[in-house]
Amino acid sequence: MGPTLRAWLLAVVHVVAVQSLTNSTSSFSFSGVPSSAGSSTNTSTGTTATTASSSSSFSTVTPVTTTSTTPTSVATETGPLTWPISEYPFTPFPTPTFAPIPPIFPETDPLNPPPVSSDFNVVPDFAPAWATAYEKAKSMIANFTIEQKVNITTGVGWMNGLCVGNIPSVAEFPGLCLQDSPLGVRFTDLVTAFPAGVTTASTWNRALIRARGLALGQEFHAKGVNIALGPMMNMGRVAQGGRNWEGFGADPFLTGEAAYETILGLQQAGVQATAKHYINNEQEWKRTQESSNVDDRTEHEIYAHPFLRSVMAGVSSVMCSYSKLLH
Ligand SMILES: *[C@@H]1O[C@H](CO)[C@@H](O)[C@H](O)[C@H]1NC(C)=O
Ligand SMILES: *[C@@H]1O[C@H](CO)[C@@H](O)[C@H](O)[C@H]1NC(C)=O
Ligand SMILES: *[C@@H]1O[C@H](CO)[C@@H](O)[C@H](O)[C@H]1NC(C)=O
Ligand SMILES: *[C@@H]1O[C@H](CO)[C@@H](O)[C@H](O)[C@H]1NC(C)=O
Repeated sequence: MGPTLRAWLLAVVHVVAVQSLTNSTSSFSFSGVPSSAGSSTNTSTGTTATTASSSSSFSTVTPVTTTSTTPTSVATETGPLTWPISEYPFTPFPTPTFAPIPPIFPETDPLNPPPVSSDFNVVPDFAPAWATAYEKAKSMIANFTIEQKVNITTGVGWMNGLCVGNIPSVAEFPGLCLQDSPLGVRFTDLVTAFPAGVTTASTWNRALIRARGLALGQEFHAKGVNIALGPMMNMGRVAQGGRNWEGFGADPFLTGEAAYETILGLQQAGVQATAKHYINNEQEWKRTQESSNVDDRTEHEIYAHPFLRSVMAGVSSVMCSYSKLLH
């Protein structure tokens, strides 16, 4: 089958699929772009519709004009789908109290997290663990030179060490090994390919999600990793997003709880967890060039929520997103 015919067939299947999904001209669809079928094999239509704009309107699939050499030519998808941003007014959240109300915040060691529970009033308090860690860190760097301090805050670049990310050893500090992935230890042998995040969340089972986090953490720890680069908790807003499956799906509540349990499990095993990718890292296509444009309320209610729950779980690190952001 020649590329031209294949492109044409794919486009037809695509349009049929969209039509049978929506069966309505008022539903979402793709913007029509003339296909080059017949005159060229270039089916990459180039346009990147990567920003969501409140001014964008829905369009329907439109068959486009045919070329002289093909009987039919149809619209093709131009890139990631975009949805318009809602214009609801934003109501700020009430300012949280700074005074913990016992026994709602039980003092907790990350190595001994609270048992699996759906009681949202139990928010573990990792402050004592952090205070101890800060003391150790301060005392360790007390006599470091500026060069030593630079070295432990800079890293050595991608895969210039045992892990994908590495902090070199400085004086008595042994360095840090930061390793992918949210689904198992990357680039090594004798480890488990764990169920993907989206599969895990589909169980809606806290105990299983916690147990998976712990098992993941035990493998990271056994391989000498200090910082496990997961869980991933982006929302999968762009259906074609190549890494959606790593995360826990498009429900912020479910994703938040799955992130919470995963982090408690991971850190119980003695590795640091990483909440990623903060924030709005919603597609792989041109992931460092696209701009994720989100209004304030949507940001708080949808995308930020899993990170809030991660902090509540005492996550020790956060990875930033690859995309540009606009609020
Ligand atoms: C679409 O709507 C038409 C008319 O109501 C109906 O006959 C057809 O079965 C529908 N197709 C799908 C895929 O739902
Ligand atoms: C295909 O089209 C894109 C977008 O117009 C363009 O950037 C690219 O160079 C084209 N590739 C070829 C092989 O013509
Ligand atoms: C740092 O140096 C000072 C003075 O030389 C010394 O008293 C102190 O014990 C050192 N601290 C550490 C953590 O090595
Ligand atoms: C800091 O890192 C550089 C580059 O890796 C290295 O050459 C240097 O020896 C390091 N300095 C210290 C004090 O560890």
